[in-house]
Amino acid sequence: MDAYFSDALIIGAGLAGERAAIEIASEGFSVNIISLVPPRQSHSNAAQGGVQASLNNTKETADDNWRIHFDDTVKGSDWGADQRVVEKICKLAPELVRQFDYWGAAFSRTKEGKINQRAFGGASKPRCAFASDETGHILLNILDSQVMALKIPIFIRRQLLSLIYTNEEVIGVTALNLVKGTIEVFTAKVIILATGGAGRLYEETTNSRISFGDGCAVALETGLVPVGNPEAIQFHPTCLVPTSILVTEGCRGDGGVLLDKNGREFMGDYCPTMKNPNLASRDVVSRSMMRHIKKNFGVESPYGPHLWLDIKRLGKEHIKTKLSGVDLLCRDYVNVNPIKEYIPVRPSQHYTMFGIKTGESCEVYGLARLFAVGECACWDVHGFNRLGGNSLLETIAAGYTAGQEAGKYLYMENTQNFSDLKIAEEYQKQTKRLEELTKNRGKENVFGVYREIQKTLTEKVGIFRKENELKEAVAKLAILCGKTQRIKLGYRETAANLELQLALRLPGMAKLALCTAQAALLRKESRGSHYREDYPDRDDKNWLKRTLAYFPEENDLPRIEYEPVEITLLPPGDRGYGEKK
Ligand code: FUM
Repeated sequence: MDAYFSDALIIGAGLAGERAAIEIASEGFSVNIISLVPPRQSHSNAAQGGVQASLNNTKETADDNWRIHFDDTVKGSDWGADQRVVEKICKLAPELVRQFDYWGAAFSRTKEGKINQRAFGGASKPRCAFASDETGHILLNILDSQVMALKIPIFIRRQLLSLIYTNEEVIGVTALNLVKGTIEVFTAKVIILATGGAGRLYEETTNSRISFGDGCAVALETGLVPVGNPEAIQFHPTCLVPTSILVTEGCRGDGGVLLDKNGREFMGDYCPTMKNPNLASRDVVSRSMMRHIKKNFGVESPYGPHLWLDIKRLGKEHIKTKLSGVDLLCRDYVNVNPIKEYIPVRPSQHYTMFGIKTGESCEVYGLARLFAVGECACWDVHGFNRLGGNSLLETIAAGYTAGQEAGKYLYMENTQNFSDLKIAEEYQKQTKRLEELTKNRGKENVFGVYREIQKTLTEKVGIFRKENELKEAVAKLAILCGKTQRIKLGYRETAANLELQLALRLPGMAKLALCTAQAALLRKESRGSHYREDYPDRDDKNWLKRTLAYFPEENDLPRIEYEPVEITLLPPGDRGYGEKK
């Protein structure tokens, strides 16, 4: 058995994981990072438009401050967010973003040389700091250079399999070495999950091919740790048809508009009171686009109907300097020149607001010494609709916070319930699981079951939801959960085997999908991105609460509980988008 020990272990080498690693390693503690892919290929790399921070760098943001950012975020979340955490990140934002400037991040600049800021949906000030439309890429490269400078070891091509814990305290993980095909054990005094979102649960997503929700599924499978708000899924309005690659909201922030098949701007039909209805929150814009398509104003294409995004009006100079990535993506993937042509777009899954439920310190519910950060977590900054640019902010704010909080355990030197026996047992359990899978006792095709899970969520737990379809989804996903236990592999090697890797993660993914469908069925109201056609209004009297989904091993269905949402500064009210339903 290959085993590794460090003071802190971080699973995932994206922005959140690496930011936490830097915080801990800078204090002199040893850190190991394990990751599915090399750090600079993490999904953080795909973030385009910017990071929200009240920097006051432009004329339009001179009077911006953390409180305005806070109000925007809470309204965006449709009052689903934890206001204590929102306050914390809005206050941290300027310093954390400027730290990247200090480290050398190539932000786009104002004429005076300050970090430039752009408008984003749902933000009452143009406060997104950006690096053209490759902000995630730039931030990740800078952060990874810091990690390299600190000589933090990164074990790449490792797939998380399980958590090892004793007396409700985490002590390690098992992982599959994807190159050698062997199981390894990593133990530590504190562990931070930073494995990203679960967009690959849906057929059409902006997420990269590593966003399977591994950390979230593995935590859920302990039966002790809940997933917060599993029904909260974000659909981004402008995704490139037919690839579903993100076309940044910065396009509309900078003045681009959505058009229908007649070349008409239509968002005003759905948000008539907004000054720029193209910049309503993502849930509102996505719903409006789908309503407009349903009314037959979509452009027919071999890949289904879509709408147009017009950024031609911004001009070549603007596109080449501030939207250079969009320019390349459109040319390379769909042969569209956005300087001269409209871009074909349609909403796709983009973000999981759900995640491993943590408290304010980023420590998870149910297991001590275990932290979760970034998209795999429900810290709960985003509630039922995340504002664009708040995900990058969350990664660095949560990484920083978890790093600090985890450090407290390391300084305290209190005794951990370490158990060699538990480690050996978990190693045996995972070894047996691998053996069983490769013995081929089942009959289900892994890709077939996976596609059915995706199809079920896409068709029945999408932008518009209703009771009968949600019931069908729950029933179907319960059957699919069973099928994930009876997989027959076509290729049975344990090394470099994508089929095996999917087979190992599929039971957890099916459980996550079931949590999403079940929680969506039970929440009989509409809030943010959770839109029930049969309950179209927000219901604060009964539903100002957060869903907690547990999935103990012996259960066929998740156990759903609720907890109150923390309201500190901004009581529930109108979101301000004037959405006509
Ligand atoms: O549209 C975008 O650039 C996406 C940003 C985000 O999801 O935060």
